Amino acid sequence: MRIPFYDHARIYRRRKAEIDAAIARVLDSGRLDWGDEVPSFEAEFAAFLGASHAVTVNSGTAALKIALLGLGIGPGDEVITITNSDIGTVSAIHHVGASSVWVDVEPVSLCMNVEAARAAITPRTKAILPVDLFGHPAALIELRALADAKGLALVEDACLALGASLGGRKVGTIAHVTCFSFAPTKHLGSIGSGGACVTADASLAERMRKLAAYGQDRSRHRSIGATPPPLHHETEGLNERMDEIQAAVLRVKLADVPESVAVRRRQAAAYAQALGTIAETPSELRGAHHAFRNYVIHVEARDRVREEMTARGIATAVSYAPPMHLQPVYAWKGSKRGAFPVSEGSGDRLLGLPIGPHLDDAQIAAVADAVRASIAATSR
Ligand SMILES: Cc1ncc(COP(=O)(O)O)c(C=O)c1O
Repeated sequence: MRIPFYDHARIYRRRKAEIDAAIARVLDSGRLDWGDEVPSFEAEFAAFLGASHAVTVNSGTAALKIALLGLGIGPGDEVITITNSDIGTVSAIHHVGASSVWVDVEPVSLCMNVEAARAAITPRTKAILPVDLFGHPAALIELRALADAKGLALVEDACLALGASLGGRKVGTIAHVTCFSFAPTKHLGSIGSGGACVTADASLAERMRKLAAYGQDRSRHRSIGATPPPLHHETEGLNERMDEIQAAVLRVKLADVPESVAVRRRQAAAYAQALGTIAETPSELRGAHHAFRNYVIHVEARDRVREEMTARGIATAVSYAPPMHLQPVYAWKGSKRGAFPVSEGSGDRLLGLPIGPHLDDAQIAAVADAVRASIAATSR
């Protein structure tokens, strides 16, 4: 049995007729740009989260960058974040001209250590940027309280955590800005690339919307006709907008998010049952509802276990490891091995198993069997 990590075609076939119709609707309308799909998806996505405003962009990385720009963060400012994440988390900080200040994570959730974040605050700190790693929400309540007490922004990287919640509050309703990714492999996957910034702050939402769209109000483009209004730039912006086809497709797929998270949680429970005694399986901190974008176990001799899994036809992943502070691109920051032991220890041993609605129960059982056999083979 071969088991893939993702299977986009299988997910597409479940909603093929509706996705095809959504794409055709955009093409038939002749409005490839500045149409109704983007604002409609924004309203539907915000309503899905119970949030006030959603601003769509063209990737999760863009969401982080636009959020920081919208908050006025730039040269001379510091943003506290973690290193066991996608490079987009750190690169967005640098791309707005700010400095990233790195802290370690706590061992259960692998999300930002709140005390380490507190200790890293300086007079130049402008924001705290935690990551909901693998779909487990960071300690958002404590971090929001810390940010509020210090007059900082809490910018959450929830690119892996759509559908997660904390104390019954959905991710997207706790931080000042929450950033999502709609990369094809995410809970809500586009057919290319996409992202969103979600906030309760109307003026921040307006700033982010302009920053992602040439610095201009959308209405100028939507009203362009025989007599376009004169060009008028008050703000310098980028072109980081979501396109109409992605928005139309995401409107279809949004309905599947709750089921996708529920399936993942069932699969995670099955893995925990099957593997809990032979590997470190993920846990949820109190009050946390994990969205399981990734199912990550920790094992000894990880690379050998992974080779055994590959030989058995099972795709696995080593995600966000080695962490960013050990990547050559950031050697200039001078962090050496030993700087963030929890992130490093996880990175040395983590192994991502296939999870998601493209897999059935028999495949999950087969993966678990293969993990058992692979661990047994490497400990002989
Ligand atoms: C934690 C995290 N942050 C940011 C990103 C960047 O998102 P995108 O690939 O949509 O730019 C990702 C993507 O995988 C991610 O996992």
